[in-house]
Amino acid sequence: MLLVALVTILTLTLLLYITYRKKRLPGPWNLPIIGYIHKLDPVAPYLTLTKLAQKYGPVYGIKLGLMDVAVIADGKILKKVLAKNETIERPPLYMLNTVFQGKGIVYTSGHVWKNHRKLVANFFKMTGANKFSPNKKSCEALIEKYVDEFIQVVTTQGDYIVRDPWELVTRYVTSVASTLLQGKPFSWDDENFLVLRKNLDVVGELSAPGTPLNFLPFLRFLPQFKEKVNSLKVALRKIREIQSKLIDDCRKSTSDFSSNLIEIFLLQISKDNKDMYDLDQLPYLVYDLYMAFTTAPISYIMWIFLHMAQHEDIQDKVRQELLEVGQGKKIEMNDLANLHYTKATIAEVGRISTTGPLGFPHYASQDICVEGFHIAKGTTIMPLLWGIHMDPNVWKNPEEFRPERFLTDDGKFYKPEAFVPFQSGKRICVGDEITITIASILIARVLQNFKLGCVDSSPIDFTGVCGITFNSKPQEILFTKI
Ligand code: HEM
Repeated sequence: MLLVALVTILTLTLLLYITYRKKRLPGPWNLPIIGYIHKLDPVAPYLTLTKLAQKYGPVYGIKLGLMDVAVIADGKILKKVLAKNETIERPPLYMLNTVFQGKGIVYTSGHVWKNHRKLVANFFKMTGANKFSPNKKSCEALIEKYVDEFIQVVTTQGDYIVRDPWELVTRYVTSVASTLLQGKPFSWDDENFLVLRKNLDVVGELSAPGTPLNFLPFLRFLPQFKEKVNSLKVALRKIREIQSKLIDDCRKSTSDFSSNLIEIFLLQISKDNKDMYDLDQLPYLVYDLYMAFTTAPISYIMWIFLHMAQHEDIQDKVRQELLEVGQGKKIEMNDLANLHYTKATIAEVGRISTTGPLGFPHYASQDICVEGFHIAKGTTIMPLLWGIHMDPNVWKNPEEFRPERFLTDDGKFYKPEAFVPFQSGKRICVGDEITITIASILIARVLQNFKLGCVDSSPIDFTGVCGITFNSKPQEILFTKI
């Protein structure tokens, strides 16, 4: 009798173990408490995680601190995972929670997220920053105005200019963003602009999805990490002070632009939508959009400049297309649809210098199963965009810069399924279209006016610095007037 009971218990335990193992994602061995954090490359964690994908496959499990993380390194599977209602939420990561405070749009869930997402869609429509908007023309004029300023600044400096384009790119993107968000651009010497930019960069660097403080919040009690958390809080306070002032200014004065985010938000509140929109949320929403609208596009456009300077042959092909499509005129917004090689080149930059190498995290609020991979409730989902964009099984010689990957046989631009710089699903980036528009028009107009090149034939440094975005290192390029 005892023997039968023992055998039954053993068999049941074995069955449970086999079922559990079957359901567990493959992955490396993790240490108690810290998990795999100690093995991540502190400068380039996306490289360590990409190597693990080569060993354990496109979906694997890893522990970061006490948190279960499902790393997804396959574009098709990522799309299926992010299409599910059970993966809409964000995980409780310490630094990201500190930044976003559960308010606004980027790091919220439930009705707060839904309402703000709706409002932001309306914002893009009203401001014309969306191709189906009736106000498209005013947004186009705005972008063209700042492109002209960019060209003029470089032109007036002479026929051969060596400079780091970062400041000019930052001014360009910020002018478009601040006009759409708060109704006015910053003036070039506005102290607020400088303080805001500096502190946004501090926040971006300290709150990267891969930072150990996100997964091991108790580290904040150690002096070295305590300092980082304090710096983050100081930077956030400075940003919020400036943004509160901007919101007040926007409420008091008339704006330069027909509508802007702050006005649209206040209008919603005045229109009996008090249950949906709470005035306390406004600074957070402005912060989210300001941060997203500037940080990532600045980084992306900087990489475009650097790749163009390095690959003069590709730059010439883009210029040839601009000549054919533009026929000697300035390239305008409505030319963009015909610039297939230019769009392919911009996409190739987004692949090879992925703006967000670790993606932006999601959270499994329930157990899910995709393509045979079981992701348990409570798991953080990390879309490993770097790994997806550099997978040699999908992209032949992924280290090679080759825009033709994004062209069909008859030379038309297309997006392969494994190209996901903006992720996908219900939370897909709301700024994908405006980013590509502002990047394309700027680069087209710059290449119509200048040849870009490396200074003294020294190759460009493409190693970059990984924070919340993957940024290029400061470096100069040569602008030669055509
Ligand atoms: C190079 C440019 C950009 C890149 C690579 C980028 C990338 C991303 C990614 C990967 C996400 C996460 C999506 C997800 O959770 O599944 C995201 C979300 C978001 N992006 Fe962008 N983005 C860029 C530009 C912009 C711009 C110009 C805006 C303009 C306002 C913007 C606004 C947002 C917002 C509000 C979210 C949160 C959406 C939500 O949680 O529902 N982004 N972006």
